[in-house]
Amino acid sequence: MKQGNVKPANGKLGIMVVGCGAVATTFMTGVLSIRKGLSKPVGSLTQYDKIRVGRGADKQYRSYGDIVPLASLDDIVFGTWDVYPQNAYQAAIYAEVLKEKDIEPVRDELEQIVPMQAAFDRNYAKRLDGDNVKACATRWKMVESLREDIRSFKQHNGCARIVVVWAASTEIYVPVYIPVHGTLKALEEAMKADDRAHIAPSMCYAYAALSEGAPFIMGAPNTTVDIPAMWQLAEQTRMPIAGKDFKTGQTLVKSGFAPIIGTRCLGLNGWFSTNILGNRDGLVLDEPDNFRTKEVSKLSTLETILKAETHPDLYKDYYHKVRINYYPPRNDDKEGWDNIDIFGWMGYPMQIKINFLCRDSILAAPLLLDLVLLTDLAERAGRYGIQRFLSFYLKSPMHDYTQGEEPINNLYQQYTMLKNALREMGGYEADEEID
Ligand SMILES: NC(=O)c1ccc[n+]([C@@H]2O[C@H](COP(=O)([O-])OP(=O)(O)OC[C@H]3O[C@@H](n4cnc5c(N)ncnc54)[C@H](O)[C@@H]3O)[C@@H](O)[C@H]2O)c1
Repeated sequence: MKQGNVKPANGKLGIMVVGCGAVATTFMTGVLSIRKGLSKPVGSLTQYDKIRVGRGADKQYRSYGDIVPLASLDDIVFGTWDVYPQNAYQAAIYAEVLKEKDIEPVRDELEQIVPMQAAFDRNYAKRLDGDNVKACATRWKMVESLREDIRSFKQHNGCARIVVVWAASTEIYVPVYIPVHGTLKALEEAMKADDRAHIAPSMCYAYAALSEGAPFIMGAPNTTVDIPAMWQLAEQTRMPIAGKDFKTGQTLVKSGFAPIIGTRCLGLNGWFSTNILGNRDGLVLDEPDNFRTKEVSKLSTLETILKAETHPDLYKDYYHKVRINYYPPRNDDKEGWDNIDIFGWMGYPMQIKINFLCRDSILAAPLLLDLVLLTDLAERAGRYGIQRFLSFYLKSPMHDYTQGEEPINNLYQQYTMLKNALREMGGYEADEEID
């Protein structure tokens, strides 16, 4: 391996997953099964993809693990928090994503993964009624209790490093409120004053993780790390953070398909996206305040790919709508429909229909693996603050809006950013432009 500036991935990597639901248990079961040689990590770039490093005669195509020192799956230890007390085996069975024949071979290991009490506030997810919940007088006490959980998990399991990833339910929509979210000092004061309206439980997890020297990844569309106060905390603690909301099904398709329309300079009149899903995620999203959080995240994708200001003839005033419908019979098997009204030469209209019959958690699990391994890598490479190279995996890539930065949503530009970051960390030249 060429010499980059990355510390080696020595010792155990603790992955602490907030939420022990469908996504979390599909991820954990998969990793445990893969390292026993019973399954394949399909969908994971860190395990499969090869990218070019070097140019001309020195050109080579290498796996990520041959370019940079990635943690081995054998070194992973799982921890979790959940509102419900069921262990990861029971939760995996309940989720009904994986067949029992795929869960049973790792049953013993899954049974050892028992949720710690959740930092939870029912006002943020009204449809959940579990009682495995911390009794904390204030948000600040919540943070202290979570910090203690992380410290003792790390010590008890002999972990060298920890990454915390949110795979818990989507919280209600919390608009960014600068008097509280604008600076770290204001955020801390609000936590101490127990300002429950502006401090979501997810912010307590993020604050606790970063303060304990653990990168934090937000898998849901919650307002959590995308506020200036958290950017300050990430700078101060020198911890990496990324955008939010795993980009798995419909938005993945959208961010991959919209560039076709844009590259051919075709016009867009409207894009209507609708879904049915019946898992617990769908149940929580059936609550209008929780859906609003998801809607904002899903809607943001198109505007930065098909830009009205660059091409008013083609993209002015297109109608973009996203719907999610809770439909229990389908459980985790989500079905998404996209109707795209485009126009071509002389304005003549055409339609494209996409019908994606997917499995939500099956698409999400490899993203968790890649995000965790790449954030751990970024930390060892001394990178901190917003990691734009992880935009590839996220519906709402993070950007510093206070500096007028724009998010990159185009899947292929995001992939270029990812490849360049790996090249740089591996000691190679980052040699592709994202234009
Ligand atoms: N599967 C996908 O394709 C996908 C894509 C993007 C985002 N997501 C997001 O990932 C998250 C998890 O999805 P899922 O299908 O596993 O949902 P799920 O309902 O099966 O699991 C979420 C779990 O989180 C727990 N929880 C809720 N609040 C908590 C808290 N404060 N602390 C600890 N635990 C808490 C719930 O009790 C539940 O067991 C959701 O927010 C979803 O929107 C999923």
